[in-house]
Amino acid sequence: MVGPASLLARTAVVWDALDEVLAAGGCDVLDIGGGTGVSAVRIAEQGHRVTVVDPSPDALAALGRRAAEAGAEITSQQGDLADLVDLVAADSFDLVLCHGVLEVVDDIPAALAAIGTVLRPGGALSLLVAQQHAAVVSRALAGHFGQARELLDDPGVPDGRHRSGRRFTVEGITRLLLDAGYAAPQVHGVRVFTDLVPGSLLDAEAGAGQGLLDLERAVAGRPEYQVLAAQLHLLARR
Ligand SMILES: C[S@@+](CC[C@H](N)C(=O)[O-])C[C@H]1O[C@@H](n2cnc3c(N)ncnc32)[C@H](O)[C@@H]1O
Repeated sequence: MVGPASLLARTAVVWDALDEVLAAGGCDVLDIGGGTGVSAVRIAEQGHRVTVVDPSPDALAALGRRAAEAGAEITSQQGDLADLVDLVAADSFDLVLCHGVLEVVDDIPAALAAIGTVLRPGGALSLLVAQQHAAVVSRALAGHFGQARELLDDPGVPDGRHRSGRRFTVEGITRLLLDAGYAAPQVHGVRVFTDLVPGSLLDAEAGAGQGLLDLERAVAGRPEYQVLAAQLHLLARR
């Protein structure tokens, strides 16, 4: 079970990086595949102009409710990453979030190129993707050794119906970004230890949640731990 300390540790590394970009103030932000708007509302609450594009009408309805409850103004549009350049103007965003979406997209080079088109020069792409090697570790820790072995060299398949699909390595996703014309990205491992620590331990021990948070922040930028991370966060400038 995921408790509040765990929830904070799951997302802190991503928000540390985003907050640095957003510190410029008054940013135009696109959240592609923004879903129910957890990130979008948080960013809009800081005074930035936020647009969400997502193919799911249910997700957009939930986003509308979330934004209304928060009193946040968000522009939302139903649409697919594959059609992005027809949906929003070129060179119009300072920051594009693409979190948990590349796993299910068919043509990744085309998707990264489309995002590059709508970013302003010098704008930043925030990419959050599932990390390949963590899938092997989690299966092995659960005692599913055969499954772990099968996953060793299996990057997954894109699957729009499920949360997971394709998985990425640091080298693979970095190469895709460079080939699409982005500058070398900042790479952070996300959820290096958080998914491996029992929630009961965090709830039982005073200060354990903060300790885990500090540890996640300390290892996020260290390549030797990124192979354990459930997700990779990449911040790439156009
Ligand atoms: C795992 S959820 C992530 C939601 C949100 N970005 C977050 O991090 O909480 C994936 C989202 O991508 C959307 N999605 C799936 N295929 C897409 C596509 N081809 N183009 C844009 N969004 C897509 C889904 O509707 C869903 O809202």
